[in-house]
Amino acid sequence: LGREAPPRRSEMPKQIITRPRGTSDILPADTPVWRYLEELAINLFESYGYGEIRVPVFEDSALFERGVGETTDIVEKEMYTFADRKGRTMALRPEGTASVVRAYVEHKMYAQQPIQKLYYRGPMFRYERPQAGRERQFYQLGIESLGSEHPAVDFEVIYIAFDYYRRLGLKSISIKLNSLGCSQDRVGYSNMLRDHFATVRDGLCANCNTRLERNPLRILDCKEPQCKELAGSAPSSLDGVCAECREHFDAVLGHLREFDVPFDVDTTIVRGLDYYTRTVFEVVHSSLGAQDALMGGGRYDDLVELMGGPSTPAAGFALGVGRAILALRGEGIELPSQRPPDLYIAAIGDSARKKGLSLAVRARSNALRVEMDYEDRSFKSHLRNANRLGARFVAIIGEDEVARDVVQLRNMAESTQVELTEEKTLEELTGSKSLPA
Ligand code: HAM
Repeated sequence: LGREAPPRRSEMPKQIITRPRGTSDILPADTPVWRYLEELAINLFESYGYGEIRVPVFEDSALFERGVGETTDIVEKEMYTFADRKGRTMALRPEGTASVVRAYVEHKMYAQQPIQKLYYRGPMFRYERPQAGRERQFYQLGIESLGSEHPAVDFEVIYIAFDYYRRLGLKSISIKLNSLGCSQDRVGYSNMLRDHFATVRDGLCANCNTRLERNPLRILDCKEPQCKELAGSAPSSLDGVCAECREHFDAVLGHLREFDVPFDVDTTIVRGLDYYTRTVFEVVHSSLGAQDALMGGGRYDDLVELMGGPSTPAAGFALGVGRAILALRGEGIELPSQRPPDLYIAAIGDSARKKGLSLAVRARSNALRVEMDYEDRSFKSHLRNANRLGARFVAIIGEDEVARDVVQLRNMAESTQVELTEEKTLEELTGSKSLPA
């Protein structure tokens, strides 16, 4: 009594629900570009003998804590974690390598073939501050080659990335390489960094003060300006690599020179994930600004063992699809767009619509792209629609055409029109004998 009845659903104000911050909708005008980039990558990866692997988009969060590293930004600050209904902590994958390695170990893929070459694609999730080229749901294409420590594998992986951007036509790219050395070298390097940063510890941010004890390497990718400045004078990992790792690195560089792949050795490249050993690399693009990495990767010889598998050297990379598109646009490279219809059917009246439908069915089974608008419209407005869609031909069907069993076929580019039977229309459009309905 006296209580107001809740508003009925139909009376509730319709507030628009928008997409989550840092995500995007890829609309039909843009999907051809995405598909083009994906298909080019798939064909390329397969030409190098890589096979596709599809792994879940969510995993036990412990996978990334152990794989990517507990003290990395990705795990510490950027992971989308949630408890499922049984209270298990899950995470939306922030990257693909840990999942691929998990699958490799779980399916004992090492027992099937000495070298496994795998590629993957799909969305990754990181809770970062969104800006151009940085999203919370973004898309990667990646490869992982497991089973060989040969420097030619490092070369191959880098070369595939180089080949990809070259085929896309990108010019303003540069490849940056570094070596972090083996796990022993990394321990030595961590100690060097600890000594270096200990002397300036008061100048480091609070987070880096914790990192100083737990993982001093991660101070090098801190984004705080004061830490960045102090990192500038830090020793470089290359100074601490052992003779064997140096030889491995030199062999990779030798292969790159042999195949005229331009690169720079850049000792500031340490990568933000903990699993790397030896070679690490990034490809950057000059039009991307602060988020300039088109892709990143490297060798990770200890990860398979860390995940419970046998000791297995490996290397790989992942590239950001969105950033590749920004770079292509930045260079003004023409990109594929939606293909216009081959035929637009403009039928007026019920019997014409029936005839139009049967033409549409036959044309589509002859691999033509056909658009048909079922609403009653004037020919003029049909033609306007067809024009807007960029249709090559329009088949005009009215009562008169039905009675005489013909269509008026209009060539939109030439503004010419001929009267043809359905059969001849299909022949004209396909340039060959048509298939039966
Ligand atoms: P990553 O450097 O963290 O490496 O990411 C690879 C690429 O993904 C970046 O270079 C960038 O193009 C894209 N990317 C990363 N975060 C974002 C974001 N928030 N928004 C848009 N694009 C982004 C890895 O993920 C490693 N798993 C690569 C790897 C594979 N290493 C060995 N195998």
